[in-house]
Amino acid sequence: MSSCFGSKAVSPQSCLSPLISIKAIARERGSFGETGCDRRRSLNRARSLFLLATIALTATMAAVPAIAQQSSMTKRDPREAVALSPSEMGTLLAGMRTYLEAIQEIIEVTAESKIARVPAIASKAGSKLLQTTSPMTALKVPLGFTAMSLDTHDKFDQLAKKAEQGSSRTEILADLGAIMSNCVSCHASYRLVAAGRHSN
Ligand code: HEC
Repeated sequence: MSSCFGSKAVSPQSCLSPLISIKAIARERGSFGETGCDRRRSLNRARSLFLLATIALTATMAAVPAIAQQSSMTKRDPREAVALSPSEMGTLLAGMRTYLEAIQEIIEVTAESKIARVPAIASKAGSKLLQTTSPMTALKVPLGFTAMSLDTHDKFDQLAKKAEQGSSRTEILADLGAIMSNCVSCHASYRLVAAGRHSN
């Protein structure tokens, strides 16, 4: 029973086992309907069995939060891990902040109807940004990650080109919506983890 309290590595079955064994003892000892001087002993036994069962039940109930906590601990981040060295991670995250900045600036100038400023801002987050990425990094990351990354840079380039030719505010907003659905799906699918020092 101490395993129910002591360790979190416990299965619900092992917590229930005291209850099961108490039931078995009760079954083995037969009914409590003995006669004569056995009756008092039987009653006492019945009482202590009841007490034991109550203790076992309480212990089981007390262990439930621990079991629930354990299962939430094993429910890890389901996103695919992308292992990068600290410097590669730094470059990638800096690129992410450039994306975010570009989106904020595009929204700002679009709200002010200064569409002529959109191309310069959008192209900062276009394929030009890939120049900072080492080809080694591209080899390390999953194919789906690379594809989504290239598509996002391409969408910024397309937005720049369209805005140059005179996009409406509505068109720019629609393009931003499409770009940001890439941000959302990549973030939903992948997470970064630090690779060992050897892969620096
Ligand atoms: C190809 C995949 C991918 C795409 C596309 C992508 N991101 Fe990210 N981004 C990531 C990953 C992975 C992280 C690290 C998050 C993590 O580990 O939970 C990240 C982190 C970030 C961060 C945190 C930066 C920091 O300094 O910690 C920001 C901000 C961000 N992304 C913005 C964006 C925006 C805006 C877009 C769309 C224009 C975008 N990202 C598109 C993969 C992507």
